[in-house]
Amino acid sequence: MPGLAKLPSVDIWCAAIEDLPEGLERLLTAEEAKRWRSYRHAKRAAQFLGGRALVKVAVAQTLNVEPKALVLEHRCQLCGARSHGKPRPKGAGHISFSVSHAGDQVVVAVSEGIHLGIDLEVSRNIDHLQDEILSSTEQRVLGFGLLRCWVRKEAVLKATGEGLMRSMRSLAIEQDEGRLQISCDDWREAVASRMTLIDLPSDSKHLAALAALDNVGSVRMHSGSMLLRMSGW
Ligand SMILES: CC(C)(COP(=O)(O)OP(=O)(O)OC[C@H]1O[C@@H](n2cnc3c(N)ncnc32)[C@H](O)[C@@H]1OP(=O)(O)O)[C@@H](O)C(=O)NCCC(=O)NCCS
Ligand SMILES: [Zn+2]
Repeated sequence: MPGLAKLPSVDIWCAAIEDLPEGLERLLTAEEAKRWRSYRHAKRAAQFLGGRALVKVAVAQTLNVEPKALVLEHRCQLCGARSHGKPRPKGAGHISFSVSHAGDQVVVAVSEGIHLGIDLEVSRNIDHLQDEILSSTEQRVLGFGLLRCWVRKEAVLKATGEGLMRSMRSLAIEQDEGRLQISCDDWREAVASRMTLIDLPSDSKHLAALAALDNVGSVRMHSGSMLLRMSGW
């Protein structure tokens, strides 16, 4: 059994969009600013800006550099394009992060040396999506809510970087002695057994989950708006 002290910890920063300080667009690169301005819905633009700002300030703090100096790069696992796909900090491949936004909340997970995926969804009834989300076993013994399944599986697919390119139905999640076990026919057993999946605490309007492609030590939750304000933003 590995010592807990040696396992990487994960820091999670959550914020309500309305609590974020003004002027965060100063943290964006020219390319990001272009993308931010291109969103037609003000809420999506605010989610993007909030996510980028939290990632940059949190990762910069870990690296001890200026948030503005941090460049995030993308690479799509499917087509190789650099315009989309899982983002990561340029020149700091050992730092991993994942961002999710839903409704008026944004959440960011940051760690070192492990691949992370986080997902957040607004609480709602999604019974009509049952066939798209649940594996055949889960459809037979639905022990937890459908949205909870979605959030868990999306976090896993963001940790692997596959995103929704892989069908959620091909993943099966079971609870085994309090631990969430993920299986997928295409993965080697070693990958599935090392993966960590955790339900995160959230307010009554949201559900959130964190996945990591490795064992995780502690998971610490923090206020994202506090982080930005304390860092002078
Ligand atoms: C990643 C994905 C699951 C996110 O779903 P969502 O519910 O729309 O959004 P969330 O708020 O939970 O997450 C969005 C964040 O995920 C991150 N992200 C994007 N692509 C990702 C990927 N492949 N893996 C992990 N994270 C990804 C980004 O940081 C994004 O935030 P940003 O747009 O503000 O930078 C979904 O957009 C997806 O599957 N994308 C990939 C589609 C694809 O690859 N198509 C083939 C292209 S060739
Ligand atoms: Zn692509």
